[in-house]
Amino acid sequence: MEIIRAQNLTKDYGHNRGIFNVSFLVEKGETFGFLGPNGAGKSTTIRHMMGFSKPQSGDVYIFGKQSFKNYSEILNNVGYLPGEIALPTSDNGEDFINIMRKLRHLKNDDMLNYLIEKFKFNPKLETKKMSLGDKRKLAIIVAFMHDPDVLILDEPTSGLDPIMQQTFIDFIKEEKKRGKTIFLSSHIFNEVEETCDRIAIIKDGKIVSTFTTNSLKHNQNKTFDVYFSDLKNYKMLVEDITSQKKYINVLNKDSNKLTIKLTINDKNINKLIAILSKYKIHEFKEDKLTLEQYFMNFYKEEKDFGGVSYERGNKSGKSNKRLQKQ
Ligand SMILES: Nc1ncnc2c1ncn2[C@@H]1O[C@H](COP(=O)(O)OP(=O)(O)O)[C@@H](O)[C@H]1O
Ligand SMILES: [Mg+2]
Repeated sequence: MEIIRAQNLTKDYGHNRGIFNVSFLVEKGETFGFLGPNGAGKSTTIRHMMGFSKPQSGDVYIFGKQSFKNYSEILNNVGYLPGEIALPTSDNGEDFINIMRKLRHLKNDDMLNYLIEKFKFNPKLETKKMSLGDKRKLAIIVAFMHDPDVLILDEPTSGLDPIMQQTFIDFIKEEKKRGKTIFLSSHIFNEVEETCDRIAIIKDGKIVSTFTTNSLKHNQNKTFDVYFSDLKNYKMLVEDITSQKKYINVLNKDSNKLTIKLTINDKNINKLIAILSKYKIHEFKEDKLTLEQYFMNFYKEEKDFGGVSYERGNKSGKSNKRLQKQ
């Protein structure tokens, strides 16, 4: 069952800024990741989903209803965690929670109490003394205290320390298990890879790839790094695989470091092992295609291709975990 649909959603702010023909579909119970660096268009897309902004062309629907025209209904049924949180300065957490409870006409406090407990939030803490993590916790509590079926989170963990980040990831996983439909924008690879069923990569306001997380994990083409202790064996293997073995694709070789990076289809792995067994090898390990490497294909090399490829930039493994707009 379809819960969220964006169809050619466009908002042109000029100078190539904004979002352009953004289309995606989120099914019931699915966790959908929206991955892109700062300025890619994540928050703009989300603001349209929530009905805060009017699309220039195209549209976005939640529960089959146009977001902009059904703004208040969407707010009732959806939990939204904004990227930037502005809290009133004079209150403590409890005051703010109570204001939001009244606004929402909250009748059942079960989820509210659960969230306070889960995030070990101190409601008596003054808002002005809160750290970024405390504020994010409070925002999560008020965003989801009505236990909505749909959760929309705009970069929920950015700026948080790894422990706090893990608490948020755990919460997303728990909600996913409870059957919630989740839309998560992020620029942090591991949280998207860990939680999402499907991922869209957004670049300069356009979706450049949409794929299932599983397709990354079960790619048929595997890449291996082979390490040698001596030049003789290194050279013998290079000669062996480059002369006749067409099913082995050498991506990179380095006679100083005595390493070879190669790619092979799953079905030929036994053949590869048979060849390797003839030589003295120091180490042999798989270089798994990570979301980060896949993502970098779009961001580093300006290369656009559909589906999952095993090609990868050699520098990709060294790239920053947190991206800035390039
Ligand atoms: N209200 C606005 N007016 C003009 N430009 C905007 C506005 N909102 C966002 N932008 C621009 O649109 C682009 C996408 O922004 P945004 O959606 O906030 O990106 P993200 O959330 O991925 O960091 C950026 O270049 C940003 O400067
Ligand atoms: Mg944003």
